[in-house]
Amino acid sequence: MNIILLGPPGAGKGTQAKQIQEFYKLPHISTGDILRENINNNTSLGLKAKSYMSRGELVPDELLITIIKDRLSKKDCEKGFMLDGYPRTIPQADALQMILTESGEIVDAVVNISVDDEELIKRLSGRRMCKCGTSYHVMFNPPEKEDICNTCNGKLYQRDDDRSEAIRNRLNVYKKQTQPLINYYDSKKILRTIDGSKEIPQIFEDIKKVLDEYDQ
Ligand code: AP5
Repeated sequence: MNIILLGPPGAGKGTQAKQIQEFYKLPHISTGDILRENINNNTSLGLKAKSYMSRGELVPDELLITIIKDRLSKKDCEKGFMLDGYPRTIPQADALQMILTESGEIVDAVVNISVDDEELIKRLSGRRMCKCGTSYHVMFNPPEKEDICNTCNGKLYQRDDDRSEAIRNRLNVYKKQTQPLINYYDSKKILRTIDGSKEIPQIFEDIKKVLDEYDQ
């Protein structure tokens, strides 16, 4: 099963992806995580991406297309994959289609998690991250011990782009550059929209109802 998680910043893509990965045994490919790892390791890709990300802008398409082509060629993607944060523009979606066509594959489903702006701002401004990739929220999804990750005991931190100015920019960028993908995938009849304003476990149940149709 090849799936895409679509949705604005803060919709809960990463939160749901962790559960989908465990339940369906699909590799979770988050382009945001790949870019942040490159920034932490001071790679040339990380250096190129850093200023775009801290402003809340998209990193140029050609860099992302190279990343995704390379990642999808890895062995763990042979039986399917879950993309989180890619594609984010029409050229990225067209490139994905070309990459998959070359290997005789398709995108089975695009799960679009829908949440209104007011809720997104609350979620992003209260988000705390751990280096292991687990995300928390100071009110909606707090760790058991304040500022400490339940999974690995790491110290939690706030992402640079979760500051209020960057959040506003990310939401504008989403509307201009990523939202057109909703019509793009709807016209291919593979878009399934989920109400992302519910509680985290209920959203996962709704996603499972969709994915069970494709998980043969
Ligand atoms: P990326 O890391 O992909 O960020 P994003 O898409 O902006 O998404 P987020 O990680 O902010 O949100 P999410 O939907 O995963 O929400 P989460 O589950 O954490 O990208 C970062 C940057 O990298 C981009 O801005 C861009 O610069 C660059 N980039 C990445 N991919 C790119 C691409 N393809 N092209 C170009 N540039 C690219 O949840 C958010 C918070 O809400 C958490 O605190 C969580 O605990 C809480 N929460 C989750 N669900 C619920 C719920 N149901 N109720 C209450 N709280 C909830």
